[in-house]
Parts: sequence; structure tokens; C-alpha cells
Amino acid sequence: MGSYEDFYRRSLDQPEAFWAEQARLIDWEHPFEQVLDASRPPFARWFVGGRTNLCHNAVDRHLATRAHQPALVFESSETDERRQYTYAQLHAEVNRMAAMLRALGVARGDRVIVYMPMVPEAVFTLLACARLGAIHSVVFGGFAAHSLAVRIDDARPALLVTADAGMRAGKVVPYKPLVDEALTLARHPPAQVLVFDRGLVSGSPFIPGRDVDFATLGREHEGAQVPVTWLESSEPSYILYTSGTTGRPKGVQRDTGGYAVALAASMRHIYTGQPGEAMFTASDIGWVVGHSYIVYGPLLNGMTTVLYEGLPIRPDAGVWWRLVEQLRVSVMFTSPTAIRVLKKQDAAFLKRHDTSHLRYLFLAGEPLDAPTHAWISDALPSTQVLDNYWQTETGWPILGPCPGVQARPRKLGSPGTAMYGYRVKLLDGLSGAEVTAPNQKGVLVIEPPLPPGCLSTVWGDDARFVSTYFTSFEQPVYNTFDWATRDEDGDYFILGRTDDVINVAGHRLGTREIEEAISGHPGVAEVAVVGVKDELKGQVVMAFVVPKDPARLQREEDRAVLEREVMDTVGRTLGAVARPAGVLLVAHLPKTRSGKLLRRGIQAVAEGRETGDLTTIEDPGALEAIQAALKARGPGV
Ligand code: PRX
Repeated sequence: MGSYEDFYRRSLDQPEAFWAEQARLIDWEHPFEQVLDASRPPFARWFVGGRTNLCHNAVDRHLATRAHQPALVFESSETDERRQYTYAQLHAEVNRMAAMLRALGVARGDRVIVYMPMVPEAVFTLLACARLGAIHSVVFGGFAAHSLAVRIDDARPALLVTADAGMRAGKVVPYKPLVDEALTLARHPPAQVLVFDRGLVSGSPFIPGRDVDFATLGREHEGAQVPVTWLESSEPSYILYTSGTTGRPKGVQRDTGGYAVALAASMRHIYTGQPGEAMFTASDIGWVVGHSYIVYGPLLNGMTTVLYEGLPIRPDAGVWWRLVEQLRVSVMFTSPTAIRVLKKQDAAFLKRHDTSHLRYLFLAGEPLDAPTHAWISDALPSTQVLDNYWQTETGWPILGPCPGVQARPRKLGSPGTAMYGYRVKLLDGLSGAEVTAPNQKGVLVIEPPLPPGCLSTVWGDDARFVSTYFTSFEQPVYNTFDWATRDEDGDYFILGRTDDVINVAGHRLGTREIEEAISGHPGVAEVAVVGVKDELKGQVVMAFVVPKDPARLQREEDRAVLEREVMDTVGRTLGAVARPAGVLLVAHLPKTRSGKLLRRGIQAVAEGRETGDLTTIEDPGALEAIQAALKARGPGV
């Protein structure tokens, strides 16, 4: 093993040689002719001319050596189910699923929206899409009809795959009725909907000619074999929508070859899982962590992946650690919020299980605070707890440790140094000049070309890709929209977003989307949404609403009714994940003289901080009134 410094340097100084070597970690049906085509910056095409397939690499490739090894273990603490699939069984399921999709007319390049709970059928669907060269787009189950409809209209899918319901904390969460509603809202609804009936809810009627029963169609395709469709490396594998500054989510488009190589390399150098071992990523397939490290990463690497439906504390806080013990999990991945949830329970729940096989626990998605890091490190004495920083856009870590190359000391509160492949810099937020002095705040940017695995464009909108990510500064660099500092050792500390994105329990939400939903309520004149610090979830959503009828401000009962309605509106429109933790009715919102909402001022007041320089404010009284109203209301949101 060499030093990480050498490894990193080589990835930047000789990117073509470096990535050509990594590309050997996967199978190519046809070799690539060029490692990198960066002739049209900031676009980058990796492994040009090479033909490969994600499903082949994740499933078929392992049949020769590990057909009888478990590939997928599904455990639901909600329905008390456990199912296990060997690589041979996974291969059969994925082939059958691919035959079903094909029978429904899905072909190479078609989009398939997947709106499903955490069940194996969701994994089969993704892999079957990959097999056919169809482009999957998973919409997180916590999103409601409107959010789903917006994504449908952008992706224009040939098919939507769903289930009757999911379950959370013992309660049934219906999916099919939300799909029905979304399809009436959408301008470009798919002609067909494939419904996996788990038998959790009854009474969601099938629409003849549109809805297809999964079990019935599945029986018709039992034992089917569907050949792999080889794709040119740059052909899209999937779209995953994510929030930014505007109210319109962006479809992060991923390629095929670059993504396969980036993930295979990350499994070896970063996550260090060995083929044959088990990896447990406790996330959701609706998020990028689920795509990369529940589905593709572990399977590309010949590991057993664990798919878990449920909470970390039901039936008790030992449930994950029992799985870790039973399956001899060696690598685990989750969010800091999940650990903070566990931290409220007795550490004995963890300690009563044998977790000695667990080498690493990776945490990402939001800042990892030092007390949480220290608590979980203590509860898992044989496990190293490692922070890593990345985004939906990059698909794999930008900053973090690389223990597969060299183990290095960690600092609490820092994900560490730049990951191989990423030329990371800090730029002054105003002047755009590079921040080189240690411990100075700057915007974290990446110099193009982005390494393999990162987004190749915004679906259907190359111009938006360029204008969103590469035009913040005079130099054409990729903007992460995060503030950070770097210390003398080159270790970075993430300070939070530069834009109006809120991070609730590792879930990225756009303030504009939530504001637009709230504006849809007939009693609302104006609204500002901000993220407010929360001990458990990192941030929670708080909405400040000016009612159309000022009289509603007067009576406590009237206020309470409207506040509740605003919360329900968000829940119904966008989904439970975006529901505000608090709504406060106010007479005015603070604005600049040019009429821009001063979200940052509101946020500072809501967090009990100094507001800083507000020379541009039109009416300082508005902020003071908010401060007084918050005070009157007492602590908590
Ligand atoms: O603000 C950063 C925060 O989450 C954002 C990306 O969220 P998402 O697109 O959902 O991707 C999550 C992939 C893990 C980032 O812009 N973030 C992510 N990881 C960290 C983090 N903030 C601090 N520390 C991290 N390790």
C-alpha cells in the first residue's frame, strides 16, 4: 500500500492512466477508445466508445463464482418479513422483471419512474431497467402527489412502477392512491402503471387498461431470460431529482460506464468491503446513498447487500445491531441523524450484540457533530466511524478518508481531505479569489473535469447544467453550494449550504418548493421558509406566513387553525418529509429594499443568533416583530 498523497496526486496528474486502471474493476463488452473526452467543457465523457452494462456487472458477472452466495437480504421490521436472494436467485428475479418491463413496452432509453417502498421488488426494478438500457428515476416515497407529478412531467416516463403501500413506525403509508392523484395532476402521465400488491391496503381500485398487477404479469414471465443491452459508456443509467434554489427539481443524470467504475473503485478504496462480505446501508433507495450503496456499489463488488425497511429503534434500538451480528456485516453506512436517534436510547442495545466484524461505519448526508461521533465510536469499540461528504450530483464521496489506500488519523467534525479524482478548492464568496490561507471560509468548488460517476448533465437541459453549477464564479468551476474551511493539514470542515437548501435528517429540500406549496393555500398572502437548527435532525423546516386576512392574527384559535392547515398543505402537496415542524403567522416579512425576502435574517432570529449586517433591510420592524412573536411562543419550534 502506498501513501494516500501519492494516490491522490496520480489521480489528478495522470487522470487517464489512473482511471483506465480503475476501469479494469468492471467488465466491458467492448473496450473504450478514449478514457476521457473533455473537449466540450464543462461536459466530460468517460470511457468513450466502451460498452458495458450495470446489471451485468452487478449480477451476471458474479454467477460463475458466487451463484449461491446471498446477494440481497431483505429485512422489514415493519412487516416482520425476511427474504434472502442468492446471486443466482437475484439473476432470475431480475430477468423476470426485465421480461415484465419489456412486455409492457419498455425499451432502451425509456424512462421508468419507480415510486416504491423498501422492498426487493424495487431493487429488481432498478436492475431490470439497467439490464434493458432503460433509465430509472426513483421518487422517494416520502414525496406526495404534486412532487411526484412534477418529476413525471420532467422525465416523461413510459411506465411507473409502484406498490400498494409502505409502512413506517407500524402505520401503513399508502402509495397507490398518491400515484393515482399524481397521474391526474401530470400533463405527461405514463400509459401504464405496474403495481406490486403487498396486501397492506385494500380498496385502491385498479384502472383497467392502465394498471397492471405485478404478481399476474410475473407469473407469465417465470423463468424468462432477457439478454443484457450493452450501452455506450455515456448513455444514461438513471435520473435522480434533487432540490436547489429554484422551485423546480433538477434531474441529475448519471452515465453508465463512469458510474460503474467510480462505484467499483469506491468500494475498494473508500468503503473497503471485500467480495463475499455483507454491507448494510441503512438509507432509502429514493436517495443517492441508496442508489450507490444499497443497490449498485455492494453488488458490483460481489458483496451481500442488506435492504432494511423500518426504523433503527423498532422493535427496539438493537434491531440494526442484531442484523450486523447475524449477517456478519463488515461495512455499514447511514446518516448522522440515525445515530442521534439511537443516542437517545440506551447504548446497551448496541453493546449486547457482537459487532466485532464491523470494521467501518460510514456516515454522510449532513454534518457529523463531535458528540455523536464520539458516542457511536464508544458504543462500537471494534468499529471505525468515518465521515464522508458528497452530493446527489457526485454519486460518491468528494471528501473523506480512503482507508483502502492508507489509514490516516481522523479529526472529529471533519470528513477529511479531498477524495482522489477531485480537484477541490475554496473560493471567496464575493470576489471568487482562491482562499489559500488555513481556516478561512470559502465556497467549496471542484475544478472540471468532474471525475467518473458524477452527473453528466441535468436531464433534458444541458443549459441548466452549465448555468446552475458552473457560472457562479468567473472561473468555470463546479459549485457545491457548500461553505467550508480547510486547516493546515488539508482537512476540510463543512459549514453549511450557500443557497436556500434545507437539510432535514440528511434529506435535501428546497425552500422555494415548500414556499410554493404553502402559497397554494387560499388563506396565505406571503410566506418565507427557512431551515432552523435542530438537535436531532440537524435542521427542521419552519414557515413564516402572512395571512391574507390580518384579522386571523388576532385570535389564538384562528391562528392555530391556519397554522395546522399550512402544515397539512405541505404534507399533502410535497409529502411528509417537507412538512414544517413549525408555522408562525406574522403581519409582515422582512425584505430588502429591492423586495427580496431576507430568509437569512429570519433564520438567524429563529435560531436566536445575531442577524449580522442588515443594512439593506426595508423594514427592520418586521424582523423585530418576528423575534417578539417567537419569544411569546416559547422555546422549540
Ligand atoms: O450540504 C451538504 C450535505 O448534504 C448535501 C448533499 O445532499 P444530497 O444531495 O442529499 O447528497 C447526500 C449524499 C451523502 C451537501 O451539499 N452533506 C452531505 N454530506 C455531508 C454534508 N454536510 C456535512 N458533512 C457531510 N459529511
